[in-house]
Amino acid sequence: MIKAQRGTKDILPESILTWQKIEKTARELFQEANYKEIRTPIFEATELFCRGVGDSTDIVNKEMYTFSVGGQNKDESSITLRPENTAGVVRAFIEHGFSRQSAPVKFWYFGPMFRYERPQKGRQRQFHQIGVEMFGIENPSADAEVIALVSKFLSKMGIKDLVAEINSLGCIKCRDEYKARIKEVLKPYLDKLCDDCRVRYEKNPLRMLDCKNEGCAEIFEQDEIKKVILADFICEECREHYETVKKYLGTLGIKYKENKMLVRGLDYYNRTVFEIKSDALGSQSAVAGGGRYDGLVEMLGGEKTPAVGFALGVERLYELVAHMEEEKLDYFVVSNLQDKAMETVQYLRDQDKSCDFDFQNRKFGKQLEKAGKTAKAAVIIGEDELQGGYYTVKNLETGEQKKVQKTDL
Ligand code: HAM
Repeated sequence: MIKAQRGTKDILPESILTWQKIEKTARELFQEANYKEIRTPIFEATELFCRGVGDSTDIVNKEMYTFSVGGQNKDESSITLRPENTAGVVRAFIEHGFSRQSAPVKFWYFGPMFRYERPQKGRQRQFHQIGVEMFGIENPSADAEVIALVSKFLSKMGIKDLVAEINSLGCIKCRDEYKARIKEVLKPYLDKLCDDCRVRYEKNPLRMLDCKNEGCAEIFEQDEIKKVILADFICEECREHYETVKKYLGTLGIKYKENKMLVRGLDYYNRTVFEIKSDALGSQSAVAGGGRYDGLVEMLGGEKTPAVGFALGVERLYELVAHMEEEKLDYFVVSNLQDKAMETVQYLRDQDKSCDFDFQNRKFGKQLEKAGKTAKAAVIIGEDELQGGYYTVKNLETGEQKKVQKTDL
């Protein structure tokens, strides 16, 4: 038997209402806040992610679904299923000349992403993200709006107790000094770090702080190293930006806590980064993450454009929200007169009522039983009704019955 691929999941009708609620809540909230929906392709040039997400990241190094296409007439270009959507949205922003529009340009999206990771609870190979990307605003009010939006979205979904963890990674200049200091203090421990961290040491030392390896975590806990990690390294301008983000979060009543170890798993960030975690999710605890990426548009060939955004994992959110019960149909048409049943079903659907019928012309009793399980009311059409030119409508919750004309159905 052919089964769904490891790390992928069917989203079945029993859970689809909750998914639709999540989508609807997102659509309404983001529209209210003037974000326009964007749908970009699920595959892009591999180079977009190598340059965009960064070739020192696990995503690019280990997790991409990359292939080339084209049988005989082989198209040499390599393509990749999108592991995330910031790079794709930035590509679309540049390609369609959105920089000519007055800032801010605000997008939101919903869709599947693909990462070849070891599947476990909360971690899939095909998963879905809802996200927003805001272009053109360097002012900390943009960071605050994006963090406020994700908090608002979670609270609209009934999750009120989660706190955003925030940090500032500074700008290229101050971060380079910080990286150099971290490399210096960790140099004597190089051979004790895990394989991944030895690579990160060379390519992107900040990523080491995010390492889940116990041995590495112990090293980072040592006083002399911790002192360097926790040092205030960001420059005056970055500090002011960060302080203002925090001030605005206060203004908006958004709860946050600072986490100096928060560095995120993608290379494009500068200044503000944030993550929202929930203990209820177990080891894959991040529901959403994001931050500022002022260099990415230019790096991918556009004009220098500040930007900030977030993405939220829908499967993880699904685990946290109350699940919706499937709603019953408005009507179930019960009849052994197939033509009449079909015609009535069509009529009711034309009136925007949800309804269905038996299709198999089973015994009346069987049809009523099915009606009782699936609908709020039964429309009964027997010989009496046919002769009398009326319908019997039975409220399946109270048992009450009424004779009605078609137009009063
Ligand atoms: P990310 O932190 O890689 O950021 O992913 C965002 C969220 O997607 C995570 O917090 C998590 O909920 C969910 N997620 C990630 N990987 C998986 C997986 N394998 N299975 C299930 N859920 C997963 C980004 O993708 C950035 N593009 C966010 C961003 C937007 N930054 C700026 N703008």
